[in-house]
Amino acid sequence: MATKTGEGFSSSFGAIMAAAGSAVGLGNIWRFPYICGKYGGGAFLLVYVFFVLFIGMVLLMSEFVIGRRTGEDPMKAYPKIKPERPAWKFVGLAGLFTCFLILAVYLVISGWTLNYFWESLTGTLAGIADSDFGTHFNQFASSAIRPSIFIAVFLLLTAIVIVGGVEKGIERVSKLLMPILVVLLAVMCVRSLTLEGASAGLSYLFKPDFSKLTGEGVLAALGQALFSLSVGMGVMIVYGSYLPKDDNILKTSLWITVCDFAIAILAGIAVFPAVFACGQEPTGGPGLVYQVLPVVFNSMGGVGRIFSTTFFLLLSLAALTSAISLLEALTQWLSGDKLGRTGSAVIMSLIVIFLAIAASFSFGDGILSGVTVAGMPLFDFLDKLTGTLLPPICALLTIFFFGWVMKKDDIIDELSNHGVIKIGYFKVFYYFLVRFLAPAALLIVLISGIIGQ
Ligand code: TRP
Repeated sequence: MATKTGEGFSSSFGAIMAAAGSAVGLGNIWRFPYICGKYGGGAFLLVYVFFVLFIGMVLLMSEFVIGRRTGEDPMKAYPKIKPERPAWKFVGLAGLFTCFLILAVYLVISGWTLNYFWESLTGTLAGIADSDFGTHFNQFASSAIRPSIFIAVFLLLTAIVIVGGVEKGIERVSKLLMPILVVLLAVMCVRSLTLEGASAGLSYLFKPDFSKLTGEGVLAALGQALFSLSVGMGVMIVYGSYLPKDDNILKTSLWITVCDFAIAILAGIAVFPAVFACGQEPTGGPGLVYQVLPVVFNSMGGVGRIFSTTFFLLLSLAALTSAISLLEALTQWLSGDKLGRTGSAVIMSLIVIFLAIAASFSFGDGILSGVTVAGMPLFDFLDKLTGTLLPPICALLTIFFFGWVMKKDDIIDELSNHGVIKIGYFKVFYYFLVRFLAPAALLIVLISGIIGQ
């Protein structure tokens, strides 16, 4: 295989599992359900589906095309396609930098999740009174040692998989973990739906309420569509460089998109009916997962501990395959003739853990909470930068390159596997999306987002 490292996925199925593993993460399980309910349920879903199909999936295909055609890391891929304009490498670099920041925030939250898995397993959570979960979470997340240990353990697991290689590490682990994740999620859905009073949760999630779908909600839908599919930052260029040459990019992208969407919906079904059945409020972010859900689990009696352990395991696994893709992109970029996969993974891990632990120290009442960046604690700053600002900028530049700089014939040639796959009228439609609709939508959302700050 003509990739930078000479490695690749062994089959389309392996590629789909690895890329779906990247896409399905904390974004699906704790962010999607919350914003979907908040911005009008079914009304939000309509807009979200539109963005996922016409912007998210289009970007996914574009990144796969760039990656497979060049076999390079994002920084080298752009200039390889357009040697006369070497400055495009900075778009690749900006994406990688964003990945680095996302990984730092991701590690902090994954560390919390792993801790909660551990506390469910050992029975600590079951021994806490309902009213004390808020204090429990804040005390834990603001402390120094315990979160750092879990961040380190999580990063170690991630790095081990990366060192294992593309096929023997990433692909193998994804093929194992993704089906487990689906089974665990299905168990949680059945439990949630069979609780008395579950229907209130379903209507919160699905009943369209157009009055709640504000401009902010539309922005949130786009941001979520990009983040959830892991597009715009070059991670999928890296995975694209590992795609088999005869892989049907359109089909593979469609599968990944469907898996990602389905798992987000299932997560909503697993969470909200249970929250409502237990008379709790649907809050978002850390509050929902670490303060409300433990109350819900404790209300289930003895089996609550099993469901709690299952849920936090599920969340940890989803986070793991996503963190793997982020660290892989950084590792692939750093590795070269002199530095192999192992060396690069170790160096990257050592750098990113510094930022992650600093971010963790800045959370809540942590020891670095007084130190501010742009007027806010480091964790909040990184969260804001990676949650709203950088991804749409990187995505816009990527799609602009694809639609206006890269040659149309090259794109069609790669999508059709040099004419082997007949893509007919789809190519006209696709090119319209790439050239006009996706960049225009991204630009509008980005400008209104910046103005609305
Ligand atoms: N998609 C993941 C989620 O939903 C997060 C993620 C993994 C990501 N890799 C990425 C986001 C690359 C942006 C870019 O949680």
